[in-house]
Amino acid sequence: VDADGARVFELEARAGSTEFTDGVPSETWGFNGPYLGPTLVAERGERVRVEVANALDEPTSVHWHGMHLPAKMDGGPHQAVEPGGEWMPEWEIDQPAATLWYHPHPHGETERHVERGLAGMFLLHDDAERALGLPSEYGVDDVPVIVQDASFDDDGRRGRRPGGFAGALGDDLLVNGTLGPFLDVTSEVTRLRLLNGSTARIYDFAFDDRRTVQLIGTDGGLLEAPVDTEHVRLSPGERAEVLVRMEPGERAVLQSRMSADALGAPEQLAAPNGGTDAFDVLELRAGSALGAADDAPDRLVDVPDFDPADVAVERDFSLGGHEIDDREMDMGRIDETVTVGTLERWTVRNEQQLPHSFHVHDVQFRIESIGGQPPPAELAGWKDTIYLAPRTDFRLLMRFDDHADPETPYMYHCHLLQHEDQGMMGQFVVV
Ligand code: C2O
Ligand code: CU
Ligand code: CU
Repeated sequence: VDADGARVFELEARAGSTEFTDGVPSETWGFNGPYLGPTLVAERGERVRVEVANALDEPTSVHWHGMHLPAKMDGGPHQAVEPGGEWMPEWEIDQPAATLWYHPHPHGETERHVERGLAGMFLLHDDAERALGLPSEYGVDDVPVIVQDASFDDDGRRGRRPGGFAGALGDDLLVNGTLGPFLDVTSEVTRLRLLNGSTARIYDFAFDDRRTVQLIGTDGGLLEAPVDTEHVRLSPGERAEVLVRMEPGERAVLQSRMSADALGAPEQLAAPNGGTDAFDVLELRAGSALGAADDAPDRLVDVPDFDPADVAVERDFSLGGHEIDDREMDMGRIDETVTVGTLERWTVRNEQQLPHSFHVHDVQFRIESIGGQPPPAELAGWKDTIYLAPRTDFRLLMRFDDHADPETPYMYHCHLLQHEDQGMMGQFVVV
């Protein structure tokens, strides 16, 4: 904490090397280390400042995905940090406890920068969350799980991933940068903070024995009540917090078994996105004696609803080809102008039989309907990124409460990063 009361973090993007297999170095990038970056933790109401340095030999940026903050601090393509340069965003944490993350956003280069290893988690806490007594010992019973796909050659060196229309896909999974990971479980209940940090692959997470987990949170914070479920689907950029109960001595393997069903797409179209692929993600190994822990309480936090009767502005977005609304991203063009304090309904549609997703900067939104139906309980909380099943209307309600700045745009885009880089992105200002 600095003299002025701000919590200060330092992040340096640098090139390095990582031994995913012992003795076999691969060239990687990371923040403050060779791969990924530190987990940043802050408290609601706190001011934070991040001293970002770029030790790479090309420009990059650091975007705070899911964070409500002024556009100048957002770290999108307009806040590039030159090689050898620095950038010092500062803002006040003004949103509920949540699992957010950070990653580069340089125009046209985001997929490559994230794939090389530039990403990390940004956890927010608040009093409402603390009062629930959820597992909260970081790395022990409150565990980040950053899932990324990667490919390795026969020697164990990181290799090129073949490209498809969804972007490059890897044949192996890394969790927090580790191949074949396991977690020693020491408590009856463990909180996993799942982040799909992959550039293109979509996962449908479930345990090998199909045990029920409690889904307690999504992108922008905790749900009103836990949702008992066997599986959690996450497209790139989405997060979920789940509680897993285990017996002493038990083993359980978190897997991803994607299906056409989970994608809402025909099998042959789902396949190029890993539609039929199955992966082991993370093995949980429970010790012979576990610390006692409760399940989540029946009620978690208040998630106030927007009243659709208050909607003052409607916008439509259709995703197809490399465009949104038939336009490719143009750094010099503002696509939408939003007024502070106005409730908006954004109707988003994937016009193709291909996977896409939709992410909006600065705001957490609520899903009003999917294909005309109310969202399932697991999608009823705060979201900033959603998977767009083909040919389905997603209606989103959102309100931009402050941070007016007519000069500096925020982004909305597909979070399949190759699509974003190809121009499936637009810009809006809040005035
Ligand atoms: Cu996670 Cu515009 O990004
Ligand atoms: Cu974002
Ligand atoms: Cu897309």
